[in-house]
Amino acid sequence: MATLSNSKITALISIITAVFAAARLSAEPAHSLTVGENSSEPLGFDTAVPTFSWKLPVGIKRQTAYRIQTTSEAKTWDSGWVNSEQSVFVPYGGQPFMSRQRVEWRVDFRDENGKGSGWSQPAHFEMGLLSTNDWKAQWIRPPDETNSNPDAVGNLRHGFILPHAVESARIYVTARGFFELRLNGGRVGNDHFANGWTSYNKHVDTLTYDVTSQLRVGTNSLEALLGTGWYAGRLMSGRNKYGVHPELLLQLEVTYKDGTRESVSSDRDWEGTYDGPVLSSSIYDGESFDARKEATNWRPVVANPNLGPERITPKPFPPVREQALMSPTNITEPQPGHFVFDLGQNIVGWARIKVPVEKDQTVTVHFAEMLNSDGTLYTKNYRSAKSTDTYVAARTGTIEWEPHFTFHGFRYVELSGLPKEAKPSTKWVSGVVLHSDLPRIGKFESSHAKLNQLQSNITWGQQGNFVDIPTDCPQRDERLGWTGDAEVFCPTAMFNYDCLGFFKSWLRTMRDDQLLDGRIPPVIPGVLVDNDSPGWMDSATIIPLETYVRSGDVSVLAENYDMMQRLVWWYRSQSVDGLLPNIKGYGDWLQPYAKNREGETPFPLIGAAFYAHSAQLLAQAAAVLKREDGMKLYADEAATVKRAFARQYFDANGKLQNAPETQTAYVLAIAFDLLPPDLKLKAGANLVRLVKEADGHLRTGFLGTPFIARVLDDTGHSDLAYDLLFQESYPSWFYPINQGATTMWERWNSFTLDKGFGDAGMNSFNHYAYGAIGQWMYERVAGLAPDPEHPGYKHFFVRPLPGNQLDSARAELQTPYGLASSAWAKRNRKLIMDIVVPPNTTATIEFPNGRKPELVAAGSYHFEL
Ligand code: BGC
Repeated sequence: MATLSNSKITALISIITAVFAAARLSAEPAHSLTVGENSSEPLGFDTAVPTFSWKLPVGIKRQTAYRIQTTSEAKTWDSGWVNSEQSVFVPYGGQPFMSRQRVEWRVDFRDENGKGSGWSQPAHFEMGLLSTNDWKAQWIRPPDETNSNPDAVGNLRHGFILPHAVESARIYVTARGFFELRLNGGRVGNDHFANGWTSYNKHVDTLTYDVTSQLRVGTNSLEALLGTGWYAGRLMSGRNKYGVHPELLLQLEVTYKDGTRESVSSDRDWEGTYDGPVLSSSIYDGESFDARKEATNWRPVVANPNLGPERITPKPFPPVREQALMSPTNITEPQPGHFVFDLGQNIVGWARIKVPVEKDQTVTVHFAEMLNSDGTLYTKNYRSAKSTDTYVAARTGTIEWEPHFTFHGFRYVELSGLPKEAKPSTKWVSGVVLHSDLPRIGKFESSHAKLNQLQSNITWGQQGNFVDIPTDCPQRDERLGWTGDAEVFCPTAMFNYDCLGFFKSWLRTMRDDQLLDGRIPPVIPGVLVDNDSPGWMDSATIIPLETYVRSGDVSVLAENYDMMQRLVWWYRSQSVDGLLPNIKGYGDWLQPYAKNREGETPFPLIGAAFYAHSAQLLAQAAAVLKREDGMKLYADEAATVKRAFARQYFDANGKLQNAPETQTAYVLAIAFDLLPPDLKLKAGANLVRLVKEADGHLRTGFLGTPFIARVLDDTGHSDLAYDLLFQESYPSWFYPINQGATTMWERWNSFTLDKGFGDAGMNSFNHYAYGAIGQWMYERVAGLAPDPEHPGYKHFFVRPLPGNQLDSARAELQTPYGLASSAWAKRNRKLIMDIVVPPNTTATIEFPNGRKPELVAAGSYHFEL
């Protein structure tokens, strides 16, 4: 009898399993139906003409046709059978949906053999209020005379009677500022910092809640708290960027069991006061609560029936919600009566305290990301942000409390003002982790503990800074939507979480705040307009392209094409013979060892590099959108600038000229493809020389660091890329980990064990920008990379790069089509590769040993090399 080798047996088993799986599953229907930006059964959906996405069961290779049916109010739209592989972002072709409409939809598909799957389970969604005309409500706020503190929290209330049993009820609500709502004493929804941060004078997002079960026949009461938040609170050194007083807009729409309807709206019948137990609340400074106070001094509200010029539409992505609770790992008492709780992890959110209190005593809750050497809190890096919560007790006993409208970036919580005899317990403090409630979709892991810690730090950095908008940092008196930081981090972010709706919404604000001449403010929402910085403004071109490539949603290009053009036109208006001699900006921000924060790479070089890159991305967008007018125009423009750049800054040996030699200058030239192929390789060799001269270390800031590993890799120096990634000494990704980092830091040496803290003026311990290396970890170390030609992972590359420092690495990602993964491990002198290609996609596997690449269909693959 012939014997089969182990590997053949494994192969045979996988074939048999695959055959059974195919036979069993081909009749299974599609699943995971979503609308728009991957929203699953949304309530208060925002798009009248949505797109539909679904996933095919594992075992299906390819979709050859689909059929969609929507039903709403007894009307059906049927796409009929459409011969197409498209299973994500498929446009709806019926009558636009209207406000409040509830829609049911389902999908049928045919597989690669033409066999139909049958209808999927139906999915639902319900439209929010799409037009300002849908609103009968008025903007309301408590009267001014009860307001003595600029961050006073408003209280609103309204009682009403419902005569009949309720069939269904919705609350449509928003605020200029933050709101928290209660209905008959129970919280409405579980969202925080609602309704998020938009450019409020131009656009306000609304939320929709199903409150059917919270209503009763007879008397009901609505109560709201209103905080200044981003609308009227402190932002950098100013306040009231959008207005002085927060306001609420609310409409409760009730359908009775007998089919009749009624609505209750915010209007002059409500009462308000600033005289309540929440004395004040500020994002930067914290919240003060006096439990002894009942809200008093109620007066008729100030009501404004003029809804204003801003667009008022449903929020297009999930709000901030509680994500996790962290328990203290250690308690110390560095000063008498001051207990410091260590959560073991730098987080963003607040502390929920459950502590013994004494009547009339104030419990003070302080926060810090780091400790001083004597164990007390290090808070200098918060700058002017007070980040302090206080609670005044109404009676002696145990209380449980958390704030409403503030958040802190912290690892340590200090409690003081507790009864003398109280013995601290880890139960006293829970760290509440808050961020935009986005689905986690990616995972990276390896055989190396520090690399895994880096991935953890990157992910925590993302969580802490995705608080409704992408921020630079979450703790000091800043916390703004810095464009450059978001731009470099976007590809990594798109691996860890499904951020499509998050970024699309932020880009909408960017469009709202783009200046008339095409410039993009350095922070979005645009509350600062002080610098035209290449590398920051280009978030307007880079983020649309990156999100498109990683999601496959072409609308992100269509929506932003105009903004992208206007930025490129601005660059053009500044250019002299394709170069940008007069440009300034933030430079290669925070380059290590440079004399100033802007680094040593000249502004004009950075400017021309980003001008060329943005023009190139615009040309790509024009090609995708089939904008004939733009395709050639912008491709030519990019080519002209590239030529001028290469001529000005590079000699025939690919060496920098007319500018100091910096790593970042080489990195940008190569990353943005600004040099002809031969020069590119020579430039790569020069970059290698500079890295070696720096003893195998980075000399790059915010602009160069994100690309350096990729650029070395692309020019044939992947070993050096690995060495940089695994470098232990300053400056490097592992260096902060060696100093105890649990998040990404603003500087590699924000704190060192031997020298202590860096310059407190710029010293965030939660700054994701350098976390941009995560992209290379997913795409190359583990080897899961999108194909820009077939966006959304319709086709992708598996191109792992097993480095000497690692025994194994693995990445997985919930792509729009389903789970993809790439894992490799070195075992018994063999390289084992395990790959999963989701249904309806293909992948090209590039083998690290030089074996011929293979194009494979959906399925699971195992290789031993
Ligand atoms: C922010 C940065 C930002 C920079 C602009 C800083 O204050 O924290 O991350 O990109 O300003 O140079």
